[in-house]
Amino acid sequence: MITQIRRRLLHTPLFYKILWANITIVALGAIAGTIVTVWHVTTFPEQAHYPLIAVFAGAGVLISVLVNQWVLRKALEPLDRLQTAVEAIRSGSRNVRVELGDNSDERFDRLAEAFNQMLEQIEQDSQRLRQLSRQILQAQEEERRRLAHELHDEAAQSLTSLLVHIRLLERAQNPAEAQRHIQELRELTARALEDVRRVALDLLPKILDDLGLAAALEWRVDELNKAHGLQASITVQGMERRLPRETELVLYRIAQEALSNVCRHAQATKVTVLLHGDGQRCILQVVDDGVGFDTSRLADGNGHGLGLVGMRERIAMIGGSLEITSKPGAGTQIKAQAPWPQTEG
Ligand SMILES: Nc1ncnc2c1ncn2[C@@H]1O[C@H](COP(=O)(O)OP(=O)(O)O)[C@@H](O)[C@H]1O
Ligand SMILES: [Mg+2]
Repeated sequence: MITQIRRRLLHTPLFYKILWANITIVALGAIAGTIVTVWHVTTFPEQAHYPLIAVFAGAGVLISVLVNQWVLRKALEPLDRLQTAVEAIRSGSRNVRVELGDNSDERFDRLAEAFNQMLEQIEQDSQRLRQLSRQILQAQEEERRRLAHELHDEAAQSLTSLLVHIRLLERAQNPAEAQRHIQELRELTARALEDVRRVALDLLPKILDDLGLAAALEWRVDELNKAHGLQASITVQGMERRLPRETELVLYRIAQEALSNVCRHAQATKVTVLLHGDGQRCILQVVDDGVGFDTSRLADGNGHGLGLVGMRERIAMIGGSLEITSKPGAGTQIKAQAPWPQTEG
C-alpha cells in the first residue's frame, strides 16, 4: 500500500511534484508560523514580536530552497541517466540502454523508451550495413575468381597452344609442313582473340559506349538466345536519342543482373526485355514466365544475394526507381525507371 502510494507520487509529473512540495511548505509554514506566533503573543505579551518575522522568513526560505532542490534533483535524475547514456554512446559504446527505474515520471519514461528504440534501430541498421559490405566484398572476390578462371582456362590455354605450335613451326622440315603450322597458328590466334574479347565484352561491352543502350541490350539478348535454351526477345521504342552515359550504364547493369537471375533462378521458357523512352524518362522492363519468388522475403535482407540490392542502389544513384513484381509460380517482372534529362549527356 505504502509502496504503491510512493510509486504513484514518484510517477507524478515534475510540475506537480514541485507544486505539491511548495504548497506543503507554504501550508506547513503558515500553520507553524501562526501556532508559534499565537504561543509567543500569549506567553510573552509584553515583548516585541517583529523579530519573529525575520526568523520565519529565514527558515521559510531555507526550507523552501532545500526542499525544492531535493525534489528537483530527484525528479531530474532520469535526465542525468539519459545524459550519461548519450555520453557513453558518444565515446563509442554500442550496447548502452537507458534504465529509468521506478521513480521517473511518465514523460521521461516515454523519452527513454523512444531513445532506446532509436538505439535499437541504429544498431540494427549498422549490423545490416556491416553484412552488406561483407557481401559486397565476397561478391567482388567471386567476380575476381571467375575472371581469373576465364583468363586462365581459356585465354591462357589458347596462348599456350600458340607457343607449342610456334615451336613446331620452328622445327618444320619443309615449306608444306610450315604452311600447315602457320594455318593452325592463324586459327588458334583467332580463337584466343575471341576468348579475350568475350571476357572483355562480358565486363563492359564496347557496344554500349559506341552504339548505346538499345544496341547493347539487343546484343545481350542475342547472346542469351545462343547460349541458353531460353527464348529471349527485346522490344525497343522511342530510344532515338542517346541517354546520359551514366544512365545507360546503370540500366545496362540492371538488365544484365535481371537476365542473369532469369538464367539462374527462374527456369523460364521466355524472357522479354522492353526498353521504352518517352523523352522525359526511360523505362526498362525484364519480364519472365518462370517460377517467380516471394518478394516479401526481400525485406528482411537475410540470405539473399546482392543482385536486387545492387539494382536498387544503382537506380537510386541516378534518381530513378525500381519495382520488383513477383509471386511464386507467376513469373517475375523487374521495372526500372530512370529520368531522362532534356540536355543530352
Ligand atoms: N527472375 C527470377 N525468378 C525467380 N527468382 C528470382 C528471380 N530473380 C531473383 N530471384 C530470387 O531472388 C533472390 C535474390 O536475387 P539476387 O539479389 O539477384 O541474388 P542472387 O542472384 O545472388 O541469389 C534469388 O536468390 C532468387 O531466389
Ligand atoms: Mg542475382
